[in-house]
Amino acid sequence: MDDVISSRDAQLGMDFLSDTPKVFKSVKGTTNTSADGVYGWYRYIQDFTGEFAEEWLTKLFPNGGSVWDPFAGSGTTLVASKKLGLPSAGFDVSPFMVDVVRAKTDWSIDPTLLTKAIDTVLSRAQVEAEPLSERLVTWSDYDDVMQASTDFPGDTKLRKWISPVVVRRLQILIDSIDAVVDERVRRFLRLGVAGVLVPASNMALRPNICYKTKATLDYPVLKEFSIRIRRMVSEYIKLDHGNNVPALIEVGDSRTARPEVPTGIFTSPPYPNDMEYVHQTRLELALLNYVNDKKGLTSLKKAMISSSVKLVYNDNAWQKDLGLEVSSVAKAYGDVNKTLEGKNWGWNPADMVAQYFGGMRAVMRTWHERLPVGGVAAVVIGDSAFNGIKVATDVLLGECAEMDGFKVEDIAVFRERWNTKHTETLRESVVVLRKGQH
Ligand SMILES: C[S@@+](CC[C@H](N)C(=O)[O-])C[C@H]1O[C@@H](n2cnc3c(N)ncnc32)[C@H](O)[C@@H]1O
Repeated sequence: MDDVISSRDAQLGMDFLSDTPKVFKSVKGTTNTSADGVYGWYRYIQDFTGEFAEEWLTKLFPNGGSVWDPFAGSGTTLVASKKLGLPSAGFDVSPFMVDVVRAKTDWSIDPTLLTKAIDTVLSRAQVEAEPLSERLVTWSDYDDVMQASTDFPGDTKLRKWISPVVVRRLQILIDSIDAVVDERVRRFLRLGVAGVLVPASNMALRPNICYKTKATLDYPVLKEFSIRIRRMVSEYIKLDHGNNVPALIEVGDSRTARPEVPTGIFTSPPYPNDMEYVHQTRLELALLNYVNDKKGLTSLKKAMISSSVKLVYNDNAWQKDLGLEVSSVAKAYGDVNKTLEGKNWGWNPADMVAQYFGGMRAVMRTWHERLPVGGVAAVVIGDSAFNGIKVATDVLLGECAEMDGFKVEDIAVFRERWNTKHTETLRESVVVLRKGQH
């Protein structure tokens, strides 16, 4: 499963040459896969494994307590907390990811309700899907058949990502699911659809979203959904349905939204490695109707931590000021800036570095405000490099946190990588921050 292994490798933007977990020897994979039950129900770029989360949570919360994940992503922290009996809560800025987490942490649905709903949804969708391929071949046919393309954003880029017949098949399935009355069941089924979107499209995750060598002209949407959702149900049945430990997730921008008062934090923010989440989940956001136009996409991007050169906005210039107050961030900014002299790429990795750390400072200030004295925040993060300049993200984040009252208790390295372009290794680590007395 090369593509799965490399999903986390590419976070450092480097070729993968060594994998030497130094702290947790039992961490097998680097990302959740379909072999990981509920953890693997949605394949997400830059997640960490359930096993990794469970080990860290056990170590960080020996006496119990409540867990906060301000960058919940696909919900690994919340699922692991629930399994361990720890109440948890979190934010993600993406409404799609929030629904993924809700579906993975709601274990209150009667499994027979799920099986009945699947049968109804599929038989309803089957009737409409049957005569489809003769009716709909190109995008202009799609527009004719649909009269106007209001159902699908008139976005030329996305139209290269997926065929019109496949979109129509997916719409039939999604409409059939949206007719299900029980919201919890709907969410579960929509997560099943999310899992087939990339395979049904012209795109692949390798590990970033990119074009497949051969376009997918048509795809057995209902069949693949049926296989996937039935597997999810069989895994769902094995979960402990008596476990009602709360796992609360909300849409929130962690730079401004305040957590409740957690005992501690376990989280992985975006790495400053040019990965752009809105782009990576574009099919899901559009086809499952979370975002309906370019304006919606842009406002979501502006709320994201500036982990990519494409997420640097003038509206967020305050982040740059906040970042540059930290001397090591200012140095990294200056070093990257020097490599840009005489170049006019339109994208600015130096500004990205400054905005990234300024944004993270804003986030960590909210933690300091809400954590009890002695409270812990453990941050899973990776280094990156731009134009040959290494950005030691763990060290820099630690320095940002210390500016705002935390103590860096540990930087626990769990992977290191080396690349021919650099003399230094790039690493992934867990930065352990402790809120001191003052
Ligand atoms: C590295 S991923 C988290 C992965 C997660 N640990 C998992 O196992 O799936 C980072 C997440 O942060 C979210 N994010 C980015 N900017 C954010 C912000 N300002 N507030 C809240 N979430 C944000 C992204 O949408 C993404 O899902």
